[in-house]
Amino acid sequence: MEIKTQLRGLPPYQPGKSIEEVKREYGLTDIIKLASNENPYGCSPAVKEAVMKQLDHLAIYPDGYARLLREKVATHLGINETQLIFGNGSDEVVQIICRAFLSPNTNTVMAAPTFPQYRHNAVIEGAEIREIPLVDGRHDLEAMLKVIDEQTRVVWICNPNNPTGTYVNEQELTSFLERVPSHVLAVLDEAYYEYATANDYPQTVPLLRQYDNLMILRTFSKAYGLAALRVGYGIASETLIREIEPAREPFNTSSVAQAAAIAALDDQAFIRECVEKNKQGLETFYRFCEENGLRYYPSQANFILIDFGIEGNEVFQYLLERGIIVRSGNALGFPTSVRITVGSKEQNERIIHALTQMLKEKQLI
Ligand SMILES: Cc1ncc(COP(=O)(O)O)c(C=O)c1O
Repeated sequence: MEIKTQLRGLPPYQPGKSIEEVKREYGLTDIIKLASNENPYGCSPAVKEAVMKQLDHLAIYPDGYARLLREKVATHLGINETQLIFGNGSDEVVQIICRAFLSPNTNTVMAAPTFPQYRHNAVIEGAEIREIPLVDGRHDLEAMLKVIDEQTRVVWICNPNNPTGTYVNEQELTSFLERVPSHVLAVLDEAYYEYATANDYPQTVPLLRQYDNLMILRTFSKAYGLAALRVGYGIASETLIREIEPAREPFNTSSVAQAAAIAALDDQAFIRECVEKNKQGLETFYRFCEENGLRYYPSQANFILIDFGIEGNEVFQYLLERGIIVRSGNALGFPTSVRITVGSKEQNERIIHALTQMLKEKQLI
């Protein structure tokens, strides 16, 4: 048997430690996980009832077209239903885009470090990866434009960027899109869209009328709190969606997930509340960093990357032993940082307490 050469040596996705694993390994009972940018407040209470209703119909295949969810999202965004493609998480939409556009002899342009699944899927398709280093934690759009050529098929903008939380503003984005050649698909991954509160964070849905080569990705996994159910979607022109649809699996979003997403979308008050609490949480982390002279990137998302000036793995391990799971920057391209998901007020206080202890013990302050 001969596997694709590019799969040899490609590591599978390394998930962070689960709460159960940490309980077992360290004999702890009270664990908090601030590693995967999940919503610490769960999801709208309306979701539970919607999910329960679906449990009587588990023998039936889901609606592969996700018609009810499609109608709901289209109305919510003020677009046509034909402008949407749903995925088993936005991860799957990334995979669909790569399947549809990339092959050997093509290339794809992205920032580095950014969300790793763009690279991962592009490698599997055998495309050349052109990575442009972030500058001060931000996309270097001018340098990204410079490496686009005839063979470029997709350029990725993660906005806000994971793992830095930084963002491309409206003026920067439109100036960039003006110059992306029309044969290149520009993907704007807005997984953390709901959390972004900056006045100049771009509203991209109206831009779809102007740019045929634009695709926006959103998800129900973050602010909507449905990460376990896996629903994300792409928004683009009707033509583009029609062209990539054959690369989608027929029943890729479950009935339970579709029903949950509909209920979640209906509860915008829940989202507003979570976004407000997230903003306050971020401010708590900013204060902590400033009081202790730590470098960080102001974030438009529900996580913050903090530079401790020592190995990220060391900070990760210190916290792990105290029942707090975060993401070490070593795996994210920032070896002296850790990425922390903004938790509830109590969770934020607990991690800041532990970090303050650590700074003292390791004589970093
Ligand atoms: C930037 C970004 N895009 C996409 C995803 C994938 O999210 P999901 O597949 O759960 O929709 C994530 C998840 O961490 C992310 O950070």
